[in-house]
Amino acid sequence: MSAIEAEDLRASYGDGADAEVLKGISTSIPRGRLTVIVGPNGSGKSTLLMTLARIMAPSGGVVRVEGRDSAGLRGRELARLLALLPQEATAPEGIRVWELVSRGRHPHRGFWQPLGAEDHRAVEEALELTGCRELAQRRMVELSGGQRQRVWIALALAQRSPVLLLDEPTAHLDLSHALDVLDIGVRLTAAGKTVVTVLHDLNLAARYADRIIVVDGGQVVGAGAPTEVITPELVGEVFGVAALVVPDPETGSPLVVPRAQHGPAAVRAAVEAATDIGGAA
Ligand SMILES: Nc1ncnc2c1ncn2[C@@H]1O[C@H](COP(=O)(O)OP(=O)(O)OP(=O)(O)O)[C@@H](O)[C@H]1O
Ligand SMILES: [Mg+2]
Repeated sequence: MSAIEAEDLRASYGDGADAEVLKGISTSIPRGRLTVIVGPNGSGKSTLLMTLARIMAPSGGVVRVEGRDSAGLRGRELARLLALLPQEATAPEGIRVWELVSRGRHPHRGFWQPLGAEDHRAVEEALELTGCRELAQRRMVELSGGQRQRVWIALALAQRSPVLLLDEPTAHLDLSHALDVLDIGVRLTAAGKTVVTVLHDLNLAARYADRIIVVDGGQVVGAGAPTEVITPELVGEVFGVAALVVPDPETGSPLVVPRAQHGPAAVRAAVEAATDIGGAA
């Protein structure tokens, strides 16, 4: 059964047909699996996550989360079902890591109600999972970009919702921490949670995803298992990159290798060939 279903989902940032950013998205997110959304910059991935999480009201269509029409859910009810890590988030000035992560517990408590033992456990566990325990008493402003990103992930985890939407959680992370974050995603799905994440690295997407959804121009242009979806044709059509797709020698998942027309040697050759036209006077 699906954790999320979207039917003819539409969203826009202004009036007029040109302003429509999601142009009728119908898709389903399988429960207990890791789904990766890929697509070019500006294709609508963040808008899709924000409308699924109802941070942004859709202009049309239906979203069902765990079988319930999200339009009929109160904010706190939805937040107990679904957590969103936005692509860009701003921390309140001067806030320390522990306090920020504890805000993930808001949907579970009454207003002004102090944190209980369960809340403390959820915060500690989220800090532990993301490798942020040593940062707990630091201020957000004192952290590096990658450390901050891991704290935001901890905030989403602390919410302990069955569905987790992560918008580019590996942005700013070095390779080791990026792999850690994706491994956390796998562990969460093994525990029955549903994880949806936007990634730009097609090779990591192919290695980790149970299902890949490709968004282009505000529409879903491909969906399925990585081997079905990540093909030279798709990489060419959607990303405009000529590439080989070979089996990853470690896992057998599709590995995208851009053709030799890209890269320093190709650029130098092109520059040399063009020196007559663009060379220094
Ligand atoms: N606040 C906004 N006001 C107006 N237009 C917006 C706004 N946010 C996004 N857009 C436009 O909506 C479209 C989709 O943006 P969105 O952020 O969903 O893309 P994305 O796929 O997440 O891109 P990226 O990979 O760069 O994060 C883009 O054309 C963008 O310019
Ligand atoms: Mg985005």
